This record gives sequence, C-alpha cells and structure tokens, in this order.
Amino acid sequence: EKGGYDHFMLKEIYEQPHAILDTYRGRLLADQGIIRMAGIDQHLEKFVNANRIIIVACGTSWHAGLVAEYIFEDLARVPVEVEYASEFRYRNPIITDKDVLIAISQSGETADTLAAIKLAKEKGAFVFGVCNVVGSSIARETHAGAYTHAGPEIGVASTKAFTTQITILTLMALKLGKEKGEFSESKFHEYLAELENIPAKVQIALESNPLIEIIADVYKDSSNCLYLGRGYNFPVALEGALKLKEISYIHAEGYPAAEMKHGPIALIDEQMPVIVIATNKGHYEKVVSNIQEIKSRKGKIIAIVTEGDEQVKELADHVVEIPETIESLTPLLTTIPLQLLSYHIAVMRNCNVDQPRNLAKSVTVE
Ligand code: M6R
Repeated sequence: EKGGYDHFMLKEIYEQPHAILDTYRGRLLADQGIIRMAGIDQHLEKFVNANRIIIVACGTSWHAGLVAEYIFEDLARVPVEVEYASEFRYRNPIITDKDVLIAISQSGETADTLAAIKLAKEKGAFVFGVCNVVGSSIARETHAGAYTHAGPEIGVASTKAFTTQITILTLMALKLGKEKGEFSESKFHEYLAELENIPAKVQIALESNPLIEIIADVYKDSSNCLYLGRGYNFPVALEGALKLKEISYIHAEGYPAAEMKHGPIALIDEQMPVIVIATNKGHYEKVVSNIQEIKSRKGKIIAIVTEGDEQVKELADHVVEIPETIESLTPLLTTIPLQLLSYHIAVMRNCNVDQPRNLAKSVTVE
C-alpha cells in the first residue's frame, strides 16, 4: 500500500507532481484561457463584491492560507486576513455579510476550523471550503467549496495537501483577479501556462533527494534549526520548520528573513543550521545580505536557490537548486526540498515518521 516507499510520507511527497495535476485537471483550461471552478462560478458576485477575505485554518493548512494571502492580495487585489481558527473563533471577531471566509482543511474535520465556520455563518459571511476529504464535515458545513483532489494523505505530516491547497488557492486568486480586471490578458495567460509547467518542475525539484540525504546526515544531530524566507516564501519557512519539529523532534523555528536581526540572530553560532530560501525573484538581494549576516556569525547555511544561482553559492555551505518559475508559484517548488530534509532527518533519528508521537492526523478536539 506504500507503493514501494518506506513510508507514506515519502510516497506522498513523490505523489505531488501528480496530485497538483489532479487539482487543476478540468479546472485550468490554459489553451482556452479559462479557469473553471463551479463553486466560484456559482457565487462569483460574493467574491467580486467581498470587502475582504478571511482565511481560517490550523497547522500546515494555515501556512497554505498565509501563502494565499500573498497571492490574493497580489493577483486579485482584495484584502486578506489569515487566522488561526482557534484564535479567531474565541475573540469576538468582526464579521459582516460583505466578508468571504475561506476555510482550509485537509481532513475537513478539524474542530476549531469547523467551529470558526459556524460562527462566520451565524454572522452572515459567505463561507467557502478548501478540503481534501470528500464529504467531510467542513465540506458539508460550507456554502460552497473546492476539493483539492490530492488523494488520501495518510502520513500525519502534511505534504501533498499543502501543495495542492496552494494550487487551488492560486487558481481562485487568478480567477478572481481576472474577473475584477486586475491584470492583463497576457499576464493571465502567462500564469496559466506556467501553472501547467509546475508538475514537471516539482518532479525536477524531487531530484534533489540524494543531495538532501547527504545534508540530512550532516545536521541530523542538531538540537535547533532556523528557517528563513521572505515574501511568498516566508510561509514556506514556517512550514519547513513545522515539518522538522513534528517528525524529527528537533526544535525549529521559521522566521521572515528580515526579522532575524530583531532577535533570532542572537541564537546563531557554528552549531546552528539555518535553512534560507533564496530564489532569484522578489527579494533576492535582501536575502543575500541576510545570508551574509548569518555567515559572519558562523551559522551553517543551507540555501534553496534557483538553478544557475551564483551569488548564494559563494556563501552557503550547501545549495539546493529548484527550477525557475513565476515568483508567486515558487512555494510549490521551494517546499519540496524542505519536506525531504525533514523526512530524511526523521528517518536517520529513528523516529516514527508516519505517526509522530502525541499527534493525530485530524484534530477533532478543541
Ligand atoms: O486536516 P487539517 O488540514 O485541518 O489539519 C490541520 C493541522 O492539524 C495539520 O495541518 C497539522 O498541522 C499537520 N500535522 C502538519 O503536518
């Protein structure tokens, strides 16, 4: 049932090219220049007229929500707030009938996310679900939704659910941005074409596996680890850190790279591995200077870069390349080596990768 892989997690990591394809199959009609999503088409005016979008989720799904915040604000020009479901529901939030709430949940059974949905519905918001499990409680409780179609995710550590959630949220943001006239026809087409290239590029990113195994062996005994990223890749840093802590039990933190100098930099010494996402778009030069700051304090640098990179290669202890893509789609690629890194470290530490201690696949308690 693990399809020849040692663990479900590894199988699910490797399923991602296919899972992403399944997510946009029948929805992304690139040659016709159309994104077809019934759940949105039927409620288009709710999305177009929304004053803001509130995203609620927990854990990895919350990280997908953070990536979506960048994508929706960038492409659809609508204000977005991303909330931990457990905080949102208990703080007397301001919700109106002009709000659209998007709940993201792989299992569709997370108790806090479900409760946040009920609250938002009571206050008149339109509630849209992004779930993987068909017929789940959240899928039933929402007004409309879109399934990720990632296939069953068995490993407790979420992998393909994350990348497929980002895929569906990207489709939504593109569709909405197009509807609102926020970008040119040619930019829209460029996005659709590049989305179609993503599965093949994820496949290439997976080829870094042997290199990641070598890196994992060097750092498997670390007691701490720092993950840094900026912009679209700040949430990926958070997700990388969550993956490492939940399956290898190494303490890890994700930070926006620029925040490092406001505190975490004090932690850096020759014992501290720092994983930096330094792709060539967006804030590249800024990230390079963050890497220099780490290096001058003797931190060990593992950099995720765009293929062909030269500047970071000079500075980093290890460099993992991913293919070039549009900036907003980089999380779909930068995530891959971080998933593999946590996987290999956990295996080397003899941890129960698919069923880490104290964790359940779906958190149905509040
Ligand atoms: O099923 P959900 O997406 O609602 O689950 C949310 C979190 O419990 C989940 O993402 C958790 O953080 C994962 N174990 C992370 O790998």
